[in-house]
Amino acid sequence: MFPYPEGAVRYLRDPNKPVPSSPVRSAMTGSHEQERLTKRRTFDEAADRYDRTRPGYPPDLFDDLAALGDLQSGARVLEIGCGTGQATRELARRGYAIVAIDVGENLARLARRNLGEFPDVEIVVADFDTWELPRTPFDAIVAATAFHWLDPATRLSRCAEVLRPGGSLCVIDTDHVAGGTEQFWIDVQDCYRRLDPDAGFRLPAANMALRPPEELLVGGHFAAVQCRQYLTDVTYRASDYIELLTTYSDHLALPHEGLEALLGCVRVLIESLYGGSVTKRYQFTLRVARKPPSAAASHSLTT
Ligand SMILES: C[S@@+](CC[C@H](N)C(=O)[O-])C[C@H]1O[C@@H](n2cnc3c(N)ncnc32)[C@H](O)[C@@H]1O
Repeated sequence: MFPYPEGAVRYLRDPNKPVPSSPVRSAMTGSHEQERLTKRRTFDEAADRYDRTRPGYPPDLFDDLAALGDLQSGARVLEIGCGTGQATRELARRGYAIVAIDVGENLARLARRNLGEFPDVEIVVADFDTWELPRTPFDAIVAATAFHWLDPATRLSRCAEVLRPGGSLCVIDTDHVAGGTEQFWIDVQDCYRRLDPDAGFRLPAANMALRPPEELLVGGHFAAVQCRQYLTDVTYRASDYIELLTTYSDHLALPHEGLEALLGCVRVLIESLYGGSVTKRYQFTLRVARKPPSAAASHSLTT
C-alpha cells in the first residue's frame, strides 16, 4: 500500500474485500505510480499553509544527524524535497553548505524567503528523479518527509552516486501514531465514513518498525544504517487542525465538495466534543545510512 506517513488518518483495506470504486477511496488509498507523481505535486498548491502548520522537527534530531553522519560545520549537504525549508533552517544553523532542491516553485519561493539569512544555502527548483547530478560530491544527503516521494526504482542508486565514499544518506520520516487525544482519533473516523462507508483507520503504535532500516540497504548502495526515534505531541485549535489537514496530499486529492464536508465535520467534532483543541502525537524517525568508503559493502543495522 502507498504510505501516508504525514497524514492524519491511516486508511486500511481489508485485503479480502473488493475495493469499491469511489473518488474518496482513490484519493485516500492510491497505490499507483501515477498517484505518486500527482500527489507529490499537491504540496506546492498548499505552500503557505504548509509553512504555517507543519510541525517541523525536534532539534535533537539534527544533533543526532550530525553525530551519526559525522558532519562538521562546512560539510557539503544536499537536501532533497526541502519544501518551505523547515528542516533546511536547522541544517543551515549548523553551518553546512547546502544545496536544497524541491520540485515545487511556490515551496521554493518560501524556502528562499525563510533562509535568506544563510548565504551558504542555495535553493534549486528541480525534480530529483531527473536532475542532472552535480559532479562535485556531497558529504551528506538529507530528505525530510520526502524520500518516499522519490522514484523507488532509482532513489537509492542516485543518492549513492552523488555522495562521496563514506558519505551519509539521512532519511527523516514523520508518522502519526497512537497517543494525544486518543478518543478524538477514534471519533473522527465517522467524518471519513460519511464520505466513504468503507473507510477506516487505526493509528499504529510508536514503533521503529514503521520505518524499517533495511529498506535503505536494498541494492547494496549503502552499507550500514543507524536509527533514532523521537515523539512529539502537538496541540491544535480546531482552525489550525483544519488548516493542517489541507496540507496532506491524500486530503488535497479529494473532490472539493468532499473535502469541504470532511473539514466541516472535523471542525464541529473538535469544537463540540473536545473543547476546541486536540493533540496529535508525531513519531519522527531518523535513519542514517553510510555509503561504503570503497566498493565493498558489509551490512549492519543499529537502532
Ligand atoms: C511532505 S513534503 C516535505 C517538505 C520538507 N522537507 C519538510 O519537511 O517540511 C515533501 C516535499 O518533497 C517534494 N518532492 C517530492 N518529490 C520530489 C522530487 N522528485 N524532487 C524534488 N522534490 C520533491 C515536494 O514538493 C514536497 O515539498
